[in-house]
This record gives sequence, structure tokens and C-alpha cells, in this order.
Amino acid sequence: MDYKFFGRTGVKISSLCFGTMSFGGDADKAASEEMFKLCRDNGINFFDCADVYSAGTAEEYLGEFIRDCRRDVVITSKVYFPTGKGINDGGSTRKHIRHALEDSLRRLGTDYIDIYFLHRFDDCTSLEETLSVLDDLVHQGKILYAGVSNFSAWQTQKTVDMAVLRGYSRVACVQPMYNLVKRQAEIEILPQALSEGLAVFPYSPLGGGLLTGKYSSSHPPEQGRLINNAMYKTRYGLNWMEETAARYTEFAENLGLNPVSLAIAWSASHPAVTAPIIGARNTAQLRDCLKALEIDMGGGLREKVSALSPEPAPSTDRNEEKTPHNYGVRK
Ligand SMILES: NC(=O)c1ccc[n+]([C@@H]2O[C@H](COP(=O)([O-])OP(=O)(O)OC[C@H]3O[C@@H](n4cnc5c(N)ncnc54)[C@H](OP(=O)(O)O)[C@@H]3O)[C@@H](O)[C@H]2O)c1
Repeated sequence: MDYKFFGRTGVKISSLCFGTMSFGGDADKAASEEMFKLCRDNGINFFDCADVYSAGTAEEYLGEFIRDCRRDVVITSKVYFPTGKGINDGGSTRKHIRHALEDSLRRLGTDYIDIYFLHRFDDCTSLEETLSVLDDLVHQGKILYAGVSNFSAWQTQKTVDMAVLRGYSRVACVQPMYNLVKRQAEIEILPQALSEGLAVFPYSPLGGGLLTGKYSSSHPPEQGRLINNAMYKTRYGLNWMEETAARYTEFAENLGLNPVSLAIAWSASHPAVTAPIIGARNTAQLRDCLKALEIDMGGGLREKVSALSPEPAPSTDRNEEKTPHNYGVRK
């Protein structure tokens, strides 16, 4: 396992993060524990979680599994999405974060969370309020670092800058969606992270399973997230995505590579990416994911895979004159 620095901090994290969204859902406790052990056996020290995963069960399982190795692992959790039916049971308010954090700590059976993410930008709460709470939590030792997930670039920039301006603990990382059919992050978020020194942990490197190729195979599965989960079915249900997945799978197989491993290696190979967050429902799936570490994306392989899917539109409309002479490239 290769270890990387967590952004500008000196903390070292494995170059793959294991996401626990399946704990207590697609994976029962025994399957979750097996996956956790396989991760640890392979040197993974970095585990992503959220308060809403399986309504708190993922945090409970993770908490149990890390009991004997708390110091050796870096864990995350997230706050924002509603955790109850009350009108104040969600959002990035001082009130909700206080309760959500205490609940997460209790379920995780620990007195601190290494990285605490805002799961989404809160359009209704002032950013000053949210940042002041995160800063308090850092000073109380309840969280070590703050990060943002699913933020657009302007939302991240506003957050990063406001933290600096007010002298609050800085935002250390971003967690965007990023895979071969969801490449929006390449346009603003990933260059921004490089420019700001933010660590990047992209999620859904397989497009929720689309890029495994199983849905476009001659024997498609009867079960799977893109069949059973309406949100993911919508997210990855466009025809061009299915066509891209089929084209991509054929490309991987022609090279003798497992599409699962290659898709993860591709997401990891963007220069801004620190560690992709992998997900699985059992150890058989997880083994394919771990093999991503064996793929060398050099020699033009990243570019060839990228060419299999449409590039997102650029962030400005004035691009006709783009040459190295006009725009300059810092090497
Ligand atoms: N911040 C956020 O908003 C956010 C959102 C989503 C995820 N995340 C994090 O990122 C982690 C990973 O996300 P993800 O689960 O969406 O990642 P993903 O890599 O896109 O999808 C993983 C899914 O693909 C299928 N799969 C994996 N390996 C396979 C294999 N070898 N063969 C066949 N199918 C395979 C499994 O689903 P099936 O068996 O059902 O097909 C598995 O659950 C999550 O656990 C979570 O920690 C964060």
C-alpha cells in the first residue's frame, strides 16, 4: 500500500479509502467485518462514513471494528442530511451539528472524528455560523479536520476563504463525485483543489456499479444498486452513460484488465486526487477494487480511458485561442 499526505497536513493515509456506505445495508455485520479486515490486511488505514449511512448502523459497525486500532486509522463522518423527522434535524446549523456530532461520536464509540465533512452546502444557514461551529469542534478536540462534500467550486472557495478571513480552522479536503461518466469535477473542483492545497477523496469511482460492465453484459444481474436504488438508477440511467460503460468495459477487457480495477485506478490517476473512496458489498467485490493498486496508469493509459467518455464543457466560453503560447503552462 502507498501512503499519501492528507493535503497540507502531515497525516498519512492509504492511497485507497474504504467507504462504509454498504455497512448495515447491502452488507450485513459479518460481511462488513470481513471487508474491514480485508482492508486492514491490505494496509488501508482510511475509512469513510456518514451519520446517515444505514441510519447510523454504518457508524456503529465501524466503531466496533476500530475499537482495537483506533489510533491506527483515520475515520470520517458527515453531517447535513436529515437524521430525524424534526424540523431542526438536518442542515449545517449550530444546533443540528452539535447533536449530530455527539450522536456520531456515540455510535462510533470514540471521542474524536479525524475528518468531519459537511455532506452538502447548506443554502439556508450562514456559512459564518457553520464554520464557527466546526472551529469550536476542532478546538474541543472532537474533530481534527473539516472537509466539504458535494460543494461546487464557488461554494468551496467561499468556505475556504471565509475560514482564513475569520481565523477559523482551515478546510482541509473535498469529497466530490468523480468517475468516467461523472467528470464535472475536472473542470473546476480538481484544479481548485490543486491550487488551494486541498486533499481530494472522490467517491463512486465505479459509478455505483455501472463501470463494472455487469449491466451491459450478456448476462446482466437481477440485483444491484442500479436496479434496486431509484436515486442511482436516475443518476446513471442516461443512454450515453450506458453506451460509455459498454465501450469502456470492452476497452478494459481487450487490455486484459478488470474494468472494476481500471475504473478506480483511472479516478486515482488525476493529479489532484489523493485517494478514491471505494465501495463494495462483499470481499469478492472488494478484492477487484483493491487490484486497482496494481495498475500503472502511465504510458498514455489515463488519456486513452478518458477519451472513451465525453469531456465536460469548459468553465468559460473563450477557448478558441487556447495555445501554450497564449495561456502558458506552469510545469
Ligand atoms: N459524499 C457523498 O455524498 C457520497 C456519496 C456516495 C458515496 N460516498 C462514499 O463513497 C463510497 C463509495 O461509493 P460507491 O459505493 O458509490 O462507489 P462505487 O465504486 O461507484 O460503487 C460501488 C458499488 O459497485 C458495485 N461493485 C463494486 N465492486 C464490484 C465488483 N467487483 N463487481 C461487481 N460490482 C461491484 C457494488 O454495488 P452492487 O453490488 O449493488 O452492484 C458496490 O456497492 C461510499 O461507501 C461512501 O463512503 C460518498
